[in-house]
Amino acid sequence: MNFKEITDGIYYVGVNDRTTALFESLWPLPTGVTYNSYLVKGSEKLALIDGVAIAECEKLRENIASQIGAKAPDYLIINHMEPDHSGALNVIRSFFPDITIVGNAKTLEMVRGFYGITENVMKVADGDSLELGGMTLTFRLTPMVHWPETMMTYVSERNTLFSGDAFGCFGALTGGIVDSETDIEPFIPEIYRYYSNIVGKYGVFVQKALSKLSTLKLEYICSTHGPVWHEQIPMVSGLYDRMSRYEAEDGVVIVYGSMYGNTEAMAEVIASRLAENGVKKIRMHDASRSHLSYILADIFRFRGLVIGAPTYSNTLYPPVEALVQAIKTREVKNRIISTFGSYTWAPQAVKRINTLLEEGKNVSADITSVEARQAPDASVMEGCKTLADEMARRLADK
Ligand SMILES: Cc1cc2nc3c(=O)[nH]c(=O)nc-3n(C[C@H](O)[C@H](O)[C@H](O)COP(=O)(O)O)c2cc1C
Ligand SMILES: [Fe+2]
Ligand SMILES: [Fe+2]
Repeated sequence: MNFKEITDGIYYVGVNDRTTALFESLWPLPTGVTYNSYLVKGSEKLALIDGVAIAECEKLRENIASQIGAKAPDYLIINHMEPDHSGALNVIRSFFPDITIVGNAKTLEMVRGFYGITENVMKVADGDSLELGGMTLTFRLTPMVHWPETMMTYVSERNTLFSGDAFGCFGALTGGIVDSETDIEPFIPEIYRYYSNIVGKYGVFVQKALSKLSTLKLEYICSTHGPVWHEQIPMVSGLYDRMSRYEAEDGVVIVYGSMYGNTEAMAEVIASRLAENGVKKIRMHDASRSHLSYILADIFRFRGLVIGAPTYSNTLYPPVEALVQAIKTREVKNRIISTFGSYTWAPQAVKRINTLLEEGKNVSADITSVEARQAPDASVMEGCKTLADEMARRLADK
């Protein structure tokens, strides 16, 4: 059996990148990442869908040759221009000098801007089709998922969608390619982390894309990162639908910064009291230790959010400032939020967190807050318990 033939005439030619440490020089890749590329073979023409990062171009060529021998693809379909997929564009053209680059107007502008390419390009618009011979590619524009030129390509004869970054996740493949032939468990948390870090700001556009795709019959979703979805299509599309509506499960993320343990002591009391109230799903992060990407993934997953920090140089402790800015940027909504902190002479931390969240319209109701002057005394700790009681009550209220 050829694992790389996903379905009749559609081949996987993507690559595993187990070397890059930080995706976008920001997001850790402890289990690597894939740049998925596919071949669609019609009776007349052959299309390559999406490319790979520049460092992986030789592997792409080997993978193409292993599937179709010396034949050259006629078209390169670009669903998304981020250089993790387009970086090898000029090299691909040197491998296959007659290849025609297919993209929409915005894509072709970027093809020129990034790579200076203006020849051998074909412009397509929303709803246009390209016939390969018994295989028809239809292009659906899905702007801002997560770049403006983003589109998806559908092959109606195989009920297969090439979705670009949508439905993707971090993590190199572990042998199997289609979800039915691999253990997808390690990829699930990486769907949250990929979505919340990379796509999270664009929930409204993901919703638009989902409704545009809702009439398509889907047997395979071939995204640009992670496994090909087949059996798990209802799971991943449900997850995308919920995350893009900022819907979350019951549970609380407690994230704090602390230099000398005062803020941390408050976090511990809040966590214990939440547990006493029957809240089981509690995730705690020290913002100085957990990478932001993991904290954001949990924040996209759970409805309760408690953020704590000391005041630092008359403002917010830096790792927590970075976190709150990231929450604001992603326009995280529908969360129950409480804040806490500690200071010694002039409190600023809690005020700053609350202001940023209010500016980001991240809160619909008032934020409950507690702040300690120096070490938290008994009355501050009572305040922390009340904060936790209130959080548990509001979570249970729905
Ligand atoms: C470098 C530094 C800057 C600080 N700046 C302020 C400040 O501007 N205003 C203030 O009230 N406290 C300031 N503090 C005091 C801390 O906010 C206070 O000690 C707090 O209790 C520390 O909390 P922690 O034990 O959770 O780290 C500063 C402390 C440090 C070490
Ligand atoms: Fe991207
Ligand atoms: Fe990507």
